[in-house]
Amino acid sequence: MSGLSVKLKTPHTGEYDQPTGLFINNEFVKGVDGKTFEVINPTDESVITSVHEATEKDVDIAVSAARKAFEGNWRKETPENRGKLLVNLANLFEKNVDLLAAVESLDNGKAITMAKGDVGACVGCLRYYGGWADKIEGKVVDTGPDTFNYIRKEPIGVCGQIIPWNFPLLMWAWKIGPAVAAGNCVVLKTAEQTPLSALVACNLIKEAGFPPGVINVISGFGKIAGAALSSHMDVDKVAFTGSTVVGRQIMKAAAGSNLKKVTLELGGKSPNIVFADADIDNAISWVNFGIYFNHGQCCCAGSRVYVQEEIYDKFIQRFKERAAQNAVGDPFHEKTFQGPQVSQLQFDRIMSYIEEGKKAGATIETGGNRIGDKGYFIEPTIFSNVTEDMKIVQEEIFGPVCSISKFKNKEDAIKVGNSTTYGLAAAVHTSNLNTAIEVANSLRAGTVWVNTYNTLHWQLPFGGFKESGIGRELGEAALDNYTQTKTVSIRLGDALFG
Ligand code: NAI
Ligand code: MG
Repeated sequence: MSGLSVKLKTPHTGEYDQPTGLFINNEFVKGVDGKTFEVINPTDESVITSVHEATEKDVDIAVSAARKAFEGNWRKETPENRGKLLVNLANLFEKNVDLLAAVESLDNGKAITMAKGDVGACVGCLRYYGGWADKIEGKVVDTGPDTFNYIRKEPIGVCGQIIPWNFPLLMWAWKIGPAVAAGNCVVLKTAEQTPLSALVACNLIKEAGFPPGVINVISGFGKIAGAALSSHMDVDKVAFTGSTVVGRQIMKAAAGSNLKKVTLELGGKSPNIVFADADIDNAISWVNFGIYFNHGQCCCAGSRVYVQEEIYDKFIQRFKERAAQNAVGDPFHEKTFQGPQVSQLQFDRIMSYIEEGKKAGATIETGGNRIGDKGYFIEPTIFSNVTEDMKIVQEEIFGPVCSISKFKNKEDAIKVGNSTTYGLAAAVHTSNLNTAIEVANSLRAGTVWVNTYNTLHWQLPFGGFKESGIGRELGEAALDNYTQTKTVSIRLGDALFG
């Protein structure tokens, strides 16, 4: 491969130009070492194309580009203009929804209707942070007549951002939106499984009018480019979304280098709790959506289902039927709900968890098998007869697999709800307002949904308690992760020790 763009085709849009270079200083460039890696289509396991790979040297180049942009004009850019550029970018995402969604489905395997939903959420998120850019305000604090104090919210500087493959475009927008609104420059590394949609979006960065170096996007591997970014001496902050294992490594890298600020959005094993007084049709829909949306590849997936004993038998029967009806197949069919898992590795991990559950003595109520012999398709799977200590109940499977068990009362529900090391999300289904509030307030999770699931919104903070992370994304809260507070104290009176 020599060029920096290839002609590709999606069933949804026909032919398009796919950039393959590293996006640095608003240009697509080759990596210094001339390396490339293959991008796989999870639907049929074919090679889609190859893209250029960033190594340590490219990370250095991208970080200097971001530094130069930050110290040059970007830190002096007016908030109004930063906002305008983000809104331009949001509008371009909106205009290009079909292409962006199709590339996402091609590379990640997610159903096209879901991919369009992701692009819509990118538009909302980018526009929302565009609106914030000129509303990041400081304070004046009165400590007495001899001093004038003001407190400024300043950008942190150069931010390294490392994103996963489950929502390639959405994580791109979640990371870039608040960082840029607050006046930072970024170097973002996409996941090696899904580099394509982000590169298409880079064309839109240029078109939106961002100056060179403000947003740099590189493709590459975690152990090489990701590690270089998180241990870089000139990166002021690293934001990461991915596994808890790698989250720990990022913190160590930050501690071992320049003590860059760290925010982490990690895994989960979220409880979905159904009380006997819940509207059962609604609860089944949300429990189904809670675990099988995005093929179970969600950090907040409702992978532990707990149902109050009075309705357990009825619930499991209906849930089983519902899960088996989910349309699994070609992501480009408009009716498909669940496409393939993202990669061979993830497929193998999930299948080994299913084996593990069977060995531990749990019962498969539905699913448990591969679908077809090409592509990484797995049946929606439900395990019953589980105990709390089983691996399938404690560890993140990140696939279309959940466990279901009974609980007696509120206290019981809260106890099992909190019984893992994670604390990202949870849900409670009930028609009793007091139960809803009491349980929601008692669950140690960053988000609790009531009579719904997975209904994230860019205006609402999202992030983890316990080992699910540090810091919050989305909402006003995300701006805290991308600003630092400066106190300026001005002496007005005479010298104290004159
Ligand atoms: P991962 O944590 O290895 O990958 C996420 C990102 O981190 C990718 O961009 C990767 O290149 C990068 N990375 C990997 N090692 C790194 C390192 N040493 N330094 C810096 N960056 C590094 O996740 P992976 O292997 O793709 O999936 C494994 C499991 O992680 C999944 O089964 C799931 O349980 C969890 N996961 C959670 C996600 C979430 O949304 N919270 C997203 C993806 C995975
Ligand atoms: Mg792929």
